[in-house]
Amino acid sequence: MVTIPNLSKKNTIPDQPASERVTGENLPRHLAIIMDGNGRWAKERNLSRIEGHRAGAESVRVIVRSCRKIGIPVLTLYAFSKENWQRPSREIQALWRLLSKYLKSELGEMMENSIRLNAIGDIQELPKRVHRLLVDTMEKTGANRDMILNLALSYSGRSEIVRAAQKLAVTCLAKELQPAEIDEVIFANNLYTADMPDPDLLIRTSGEQRISNFLLWQMAYTELYVSPVYWPDFREPELMEALADYQRRERRFGKTGEQKGKEV
Ligand code: IPE
Ligand code: IPE
Ligand code: MG
Repeated sequence: MVTIPNLSKKNTIPDQPASERVTGENLPRHLAIIMDGNGRWAKERNLSRIEGHRAGAESVRVIVRSCRKIGIPVLTLYAFSKENWQRPSREIQALWRLLSKYLKSELGEMMENSIRLNAIGDIQELPKRVHRLLVDTMEKTGANRDMILNLALSYSGRSEIVRAAQKLAVTCLAKELQPAEIDEVIFANNLYTADMPDPDLLIRTSGEQRISNFLLWQMAYTELYVSPVYWPDFREPELMEALADYQRRERRFGKTGEQKGKEV
């Protein structure tokens, strides 16, 4: 179960220019990020793609810290898709090395700041040692309550939906559930994100305007924000700009603007 921290409503996050002012009011309860552009960032600098991923890992540290500071309860980072298995094995191995390094170096901070690490995706497919370290980190941080950090690893939105359908089919065959009883709530409770709110905001870096098989079910009504900045250059000012943009939006959920106006 996710505990939503008490945000002080009018609390403005300090040190921000007026154009990027973010308040504690109306923050996303769940922020999802497609961290893209590490390779192009490196190419522009005549560095290897792996150097790009290393710089990207630094952005992960910064953004997790910022989200914790401003009180975003759930952060989901797309770190490795199922489709990414098609990349050169040298690059994939480097990504697992970086992940292991990250998990080891950040455990202390996750414990101090009450951050629960939760992997989503087919993590059995990861190299054994990385898988073990991941499960170990999830166990150690399992009782932390102030923020959930979901890492999407070997993740595919379609696979997640198929997996949920399979789980429900098994429950029905065991006669614990009738097919007609399956509704959206029950379905959502069989996804990796059971008990978590759907993402309010999706940020994709590097200018690409696509979903790339990320959180397909959960993003039915998510606000989309594309930043032109490559992930290694996406730091606190860029995050604040995205959040400020989100806070200026009107979310209608199918209603008219006038109907929404009357609710406030
Ligand atoms: C995102 O950066 C990181 C992962 C997908 C692991 P990319 O590696 O996709 O960078 P580009 O898109 O090639 O620039
Ligand atoms: C999406 O980035 C996956 C991650 C950020 C982990 P990609 O770079 O793999 O996406 P596509 O293939 O260009 O859409
Ligand atoms: Mg990419």
